[in-house]
Amino acid sequence: MRELVYFVATTLDGRIAAPDGDFSAFPTEGDHIEMIMRDFPETIPAVVRDQLGITPRPSRFDTVLMGWNTYAVGFPDGIRDPYPPLRQYVFTRSHGDVAEGIEVVRDDPLGAVRRLKEEPAGRGIWLCGGGSLAGALASEIDRLILKVNPIVLGDGIPLIDGGYEPGQFELVDSTRYASGVLLNEYVRRG
Ligand SMILES: NC(=O)c1ccc[n+]([C@@H]2O[C@H](COP(=O)([O-])OP(=O)(O)OC[C@H]3O[C@@H](n4cnc5c(N)ncnc54)[C@H](OP(=O)(O)O)[C@@H]3O)[C@@H](O)[C@H]2O)c1
Repeated sequence: MRELVYFVATTLDGRIAAPDGDFSAFPTEGDHIEMIMRDFPETIPAVVRDQLGITPRPSRFDTVLMGWNTYAVGFPDGIRDPYPPLRQYVFTRSHGDVAEGIEVVRDDPLGAVRRLKEEPAGRGIWLCGGGSLAGALASEIDRLILKVNPIVLGDGIPLIDGGYEPGQFELVDSTRYASGVLLNEYVRRG
């Protein structure tokens, strides 16, 4: 069974972006960035990988799920195919203008994710975000890998923006970076 993994950058107060979606408060330099380039290269947008000369080598994930607002982050820069060669799924009820090869999920998001998880082989399914989609898929999240940044925003887009739905996770790994970022990995236990 494939895992749904929410790999995401968060603040100390559980925000993944400012209220308007801006994420410039998150540090973009430091040894945690080197870790991402080394261990999670497929989660770096293709345009950035090209600039940095990183080979698009899927390691941990072969599929990525994005809410429409997350997919739309690249639009001002003309980016509509952010994460090749991953299989990309965009969740939206009202939009459809996606790049060729990207799948659109309009309804039954949990059913769509369960079908992906039941596929016989493959790597993990990366839940990219944002908070709204994470809220819709919360019950299917098997693993959380949180890049905990040493900042607070006070307000902004929540890590998981859904209804009250307790879930229990065990901390299975934690790495501290000189940049102040903690990489915390949790597995669902209930
Ligand atoms: N810190 C990080 O690592 C990180 C990672 C990813 C994203 N982000 C940030 O998160 C922000 C976006 O988060 P967000 O919570 O505003 O939006 P989001 O989850 O990316 O997208 C929300 C949209 O997804 C669609 N959607 C959500 N639930 C759905 C469902 N059950 N069925 C079908 N479609 C569904 C809807 O699109 P329609 O309205 O079109 O129907 C909804 O408006 C961006 O600013 C981005 O920068 C940060």
